[in-house]
Amino acid sequence: MPCTVIVGAFWGDEGKGKIISYLALKDNLDFCVRTGSVNAAHTVWKDGKKYALHMVPAAFLNEKSRLLIAAGANVHVAKLLEEVSLTQVNGRIGVDQNASIIEEKHSIQDKTSAFNKGIGTTGWGVGPALEERVRRTAKLAKNLPELKQFVTDSVQEINDGLDAGKKVLLEGTQGFMLSLYHGTYPYVTGRDTGASAIASEAGVGPTRVDEVLIVYKSFITRVGAGPLPGEISKEEAQTKGWFETAAGTGRDRRSAPFDFDLAKKTAKINGATQAAVTKLDCMFPKCLSARRYDDLPAEAREFIKEVEKQAGVPVVLIGTGPDALDIIDLRD
Ligand code: IMP
Ligand code: MG
Repeated sequence: MPCTVIVGAFWGDEGKGKIISYLALKDNLDFCVRTGSVNAAHTVWKDGKKYALHMVPAAFLNEKSRLLIAAGANVHVAKLLEEVSLTQVNGRIGVDQNASIIEEKHSIQDKTSAFNKGIGTTGWGVGPALEERVRRTAKLAKNLPELKQFVTDSVQEINDGLDAGKKVLLEGTQGFMLSLYHGTYPYVTGRDTGASAIASEAGVGPTRVDEVLIVYKSFITRVGAGPLPGEISKEEAQTKGWFETAAGTGRDRRSAPFDFDLAKKTAKINGATQAAVTKLDCMFPKCLSARRYDDLPAEAREFIKEVEKQAGVPVVLIGTGPDALDIIDLRD
């Protein structure tokens, strides 16, 4: 803090939503800025209630946080309105004037493209919407009457906030291996998902970022097509307790064991200064709901130490269960 970028290390679904919701509650974030688009779903659990958020920032749990949608983001209007009412954030959520709009036609183009089917896109239309933005023909938030009440200059708000020493969190979406530039092209999403790109989408210069918190899950998952080194079968994943379905599309997630070499590489390219490890309880069931490091079994502590050694950054947060507060916080 005060300015932290949250970036996913692998192919998305590392548990960024959970880490962000914890930080919102614990650190009293002043601003949380959502980048990317509706294809990404961030899961937040609080008091037994589950939210799979496609548009609203995961920090909504803290009623004092100002929630913003970045200038570089792509807004799905219907989903945004639905989630604003679900999370009751009316009055404290803003959409940047220059955010572009993802429309039904983009989703149709995405779903009917044989090529995109081969990639296994989410079908929300993010690729086609970004193509339109590049052609300079996209609709922007400032031109839509439905968004009038939300439209703001978020870039000014964020930078003024940083000048005043406010706590700002930039919420990345997907994982680094789905980056258009650095991932497993062509099996990637339509934009760069790295830490620098997250700051760029939000309109924050690189020298204003204080921490890059990279989020690792204790095992790796991927939805859609493309390489996944060390992939195991669905049956094996079920036996290990690693089998997941996608929060957004409901598709089966493929899975593989944690990859230390990849962890090292993604920490370096993103300039990570800190790491979080989520779902430790899925690897080591005795960790479930642990809130103190000393309560972890020896093998779980060894795993965390190995992550730190390979990634070269301290593991500061460890997820031990689904609730926003199922966390071991090693920062103080
Ligand atoms: P698109 O982003 O919908 O174009 O899909 C491109 C690839 O990124 C596909 O393999 C998707 O499954 C994957 N993808 C997109 N968004 C997410 C996400 O939020 N989590 C995990 N995978 C994603
Ligand atoms: Mg997700």
